[in-house]
Amino acid sequence: MSEVIWWKRGVIYQIYPRSYQDSNGDGIGDLNGIASRLDYLAGLGVDAIWISPFYPSPMADFGYDISDYCDVDPIFGTLQDFDRLVERAHGLGLKVILDFVPNHSSDQHPWFRESRSSRSNPKRDWYIWRDPAPDGGLPNNWVSNFGGSAWEFDASTGQYYYHAFLKEQPDLNWRNPEVREAMHEALRFWMRYGVDGFRVDVMWHLMKDEAFRDDPPNPGYREGWPDVQRVLQVNSADRPEVHEVVRGLRRVLDEFPDRVLIGEIYLPIERLVTYYGEDLSGAHLPFNFQLINAQWNAPTLASLIAEYEAALPPGGWPNWVLGNHDQKRIAARVGEEQARVAGMLLLTLRGTPTMYYGDELGIGAVTIPPDAVQDPWEKNEPGLGFNRDPQRTPMQWCPGEQAGFSSTKPWLPLSDHFREANVETLSKDPRSILSLYRALIAFRVQRPALRLGDLRLLPCGERVLAYERRLGDDRITVALNLSSEGQVVELSSRESHRVILSTYLDRQTEVATATVTLRPNEGIIIAA
Ligand code: GLC
Repeated sequence: MSEVIWWKRGVIYQIYPRSYQDSNGDGIGDLNGIASRLDYLAGLGVDAIWISPFYPSPMADFGYDISDYCDVDPIFGTLQDFDRLVERAHGLGLKVILDFVPNHSSDQHPWFRESRSSRSNPKRDWYIWRDPAPDGGLPNNWVSNFGGSAWEFDASTGQYYYHAFLKEQPDLNWRNPEVREAMHEALRFWMRYGVDGFRVDVMWHLMKDEAFRDDPPNPGYREGWPDVQRVLQVNSADRPEVHEVVRGLRRVLDEFPDRVLIGEIYLPIERLVTYYGEDLSGAHLPFNFQLINAQWNAPTLASLIAEYEAALPPGGWPNWVLGNHDQKRIAARVGEEQARVAGMLLLTLRGTPTMYYGDELGIGAVTIPPDAVQDPWEKNEPGLGFNRDPQRTPMQWCPGEQAGFSSTKPWLPLSDHFREANVETLSKDPRSILSLYRALIAFRVQRPALRLGDLRLLPCGERVLAYERRLGDDRITVALNLSSEGQVVELSSRESHRVILSTYLDRQTEVATATVTLRPNEGIIIAA
């Protein structure tokens, strides 16, 4: 097993650094805070942490607007702190993955300041500048992902610049070889610090149509949807040329041993898998977000698992994601009871699982009062239901003051439930969701079938999702009751089976023969 590369056998855990642990009493998490919680993470059993951006930033988009790719924002600490964090993580056997944001910088980055200073500045072409249309209007119809036109007029030089997100996040011009080289150098900078890989922000956006053709209107658009969905982003994103750029990033990672390249890509399955690249020369793990938007029922989940498995290129390693800092938390989407089933699903599917901090505590919906809203997208397009603050609230460590996150009022409110749902309290409860996550991860480590085995879906009707995982003689069956009523499942063979783990953590020694009964919202793992 140890011959298999770490990112295939491991579990990845995402940390939103503003919200993990505050060590200096400013209400915002930081690197020393994360370092102080590495023992918890090692104990949980995860193999790698991915840390969302902590680079110098004006924080218009909370760090996804970078003003220096090779440093640490003072809010989060220093390069020395980061160095120590990596050393401690590695000492505990944890890999460290960084968030790399190559599509756009901050408008305060010195590169952009130069670029906008005059049309003849050598860095002008590092960003995407266009003349106004002949009638003086916008260069084309491209829409910002955060609402409104994606073009911002710069009066002093008389041109528009393109920003796929906020106007404070101008897009870099990846057709310019100097941009590529500068960004490649940033990757090398962090890899020399021992960083084990990168999650590349909006990978499918990196190249835009060279002729700047309009995006076609989206015939399915409905009132109340975010602005960006008015168009189909087929010219502003997911261009064929992007694969060459991804290959370039991959080549840089390959200069160092055993690094992983992950891509954030929101596309349908058949487009997503193209990001593995020709002959797997692209991303090792194009993030698979299919579970995030899926209707939570057995037939839908079964068909998307089947479609994904069938679409993978030969040798392409699968991966699954249940939540992240942009998406409603899993417990808020499917409810507290199904959140346990979802955890069992994530940790028993074939491929690398990525879990989101706090999901192991079952954090659900958190109400953000209007005067506490932080998310710039919510500020741009309020009330559509896309506020990302609820999934970014502070980690809950103990029932005491500020949940142990900080000594002062945190930058976002805590969940109302933190006194019950926190690491200290849930660790003492052998039946808690945290205990379930620990058990699932530990079990995954022990069983080669779960880490590396094949997956075969089993026919199970409308309410139960079931599959078998197998590697050589190691064989495991997973049966998940997606409904709130009891279900009887027929097992495939007549030999006796043992229930190894239930999401209720209470029937570990039970022997099942031809059938097994699942209680409402129960998932079980069975082995022969
Ligand atoms: C990605 C990030 C998101 C950010 C956006 C712009 O989707 O995950 O948080 O706002 O890119 O950088």
